[in-house]
Amino acid sequence: MVAGPSDAPHGLKQMLSRGRFLALVGAAGSLALAGCGGSGEGDTILVGEFASLTGKEATFGISSHEGTLLAIEEMNAAGGVLGKKLELKTEDDQSKAGEPANVVNKLISKDGVVAILGEVASSRSMEAAPICQQSNIPMISPASTNPKVTETGDYIFRVCFIDPFQGTVMANFATNTLKAKKVAVFTDVKSDYSKGLAKFFKEGIAKAGGAVVSELDFNGGDKDFKGQLTAIKNAAPDAVFVPGYYTDVALIAIQAKQLGLGVPLIGGDGWESDTLVKIGGDAVEGHYFSTHYASDAASPKVTAFVDAYKKRYNGKVPDAMAALGYDSAMFLADAIKRAGSTEGPALRDALAATKEFDAVTGKMSMSPQRDAIKSAVIMQVKEGKFKFVETVAP
Ligand code: PHE
Repeated sequence: MVAGPSDAPHGLKQMLSRGRFLALVGAAGSLALAGCGGSGEGDTILVGEFASLTGKEATFGISSHEGTLLAIEEMNAAGGVLGKKLELKTEDDQSKAGEPANVVNKLISKDGVVAILGEVASSRSMEAAPICQQSNIPMISPASTNPKVTETGDYIFRVCFIDPFQGTVMANFATNTLKAKKVAVFTDVKSDYSKGLAKFFKEGIAKAGGAVVSELDFNGGDKDFKGQLTAIKNAAPDAVFVPGYYTDVALIAIQAKQLGLGVPLIGGDGWESDTLVKIGGDAVEGHYFSTHYASDAASPKVTAFVDAYKKRYNGKVPDAMAALGYDSAMFLADAIKRAGSTEGPALRDALAATKEFDAVTGKMSMSPQRDAIKSAVIMQVKEGKFKFVETVAP
């Protein structure tokens, strides 16, 4: 019998932090579960997912979850995988540091999942990755683009491109398309994603012959950016790179507009949420960002996905995180089929061997570092919608 946290001896609970306590419970749990349904030997194949279903980046977690669930339902309707139905066990990490470790420990050790899908945010994927690696459980991030995520080890994969590419794409766009000679960079120092993307963007600008005339920081969740934005305005850049998350970016755009900073703001995939427009309104109009796919792309694969998603979720148009969630589950199932097994090492080898996989977000192959090699798209905010500008191949 697996002891739950409430069964713990009083003293033990007080001595251990919640994370360490769950890790201990987990170790016992995996023994107890070996050989039963959750480990893939029963009637279903249990797949774990952790996502920010609530909290600061909730739209990302909800989107990736909805995409993932749709993929699982479609596969089950088509008969499942290896003759078994897939079962998705989802945990909410509340967009909070500390929670990914807790919930992923639980999914692996208590529930006995065969693989983990998640997270969107790089900082949270980096928290969970060592746990998956140590447990020989493959982890597939749908949308974490910081290079460090997969550097954790050979069980950690992603179905998205990485930020050295994304940063270069936006540096070239600023230089070649916007003709910006001087740029400013405004970084969220609380986010691994933001810090990494800012660094790669600056390297790209240097290579393209541009100048970074102002570099300033903020902390994700801040509400007043006027001091930094005034300093940025005084440096007179032609464009400002803001590798932030949609909630912060929307407030930054509003305050930039109030201060009369009339140059394009540009960013990355952290911008792509309807909430950007809901909060930012007029202030985000005309600005640009890079992301993973465009829902209005003229590809049969995209159209089929968009139609199925709208049907399943009351007409909602799937964003990039939804498409990547869908792709992460499809990528896993494809590898399970090729491996003919859900055992960690066999599954890891099959995932690593993926070539030219036909994903909604584009054809993708795994690099030796277990990162997807694929194109990025650039979008512009126009009349409150995201309009496709161009595709950039790797
Ligand atoms: N690619 C981003 C990351 O790796 C996605 C993201 C951006 C997630 C912003 C949350 C917030 O973190």
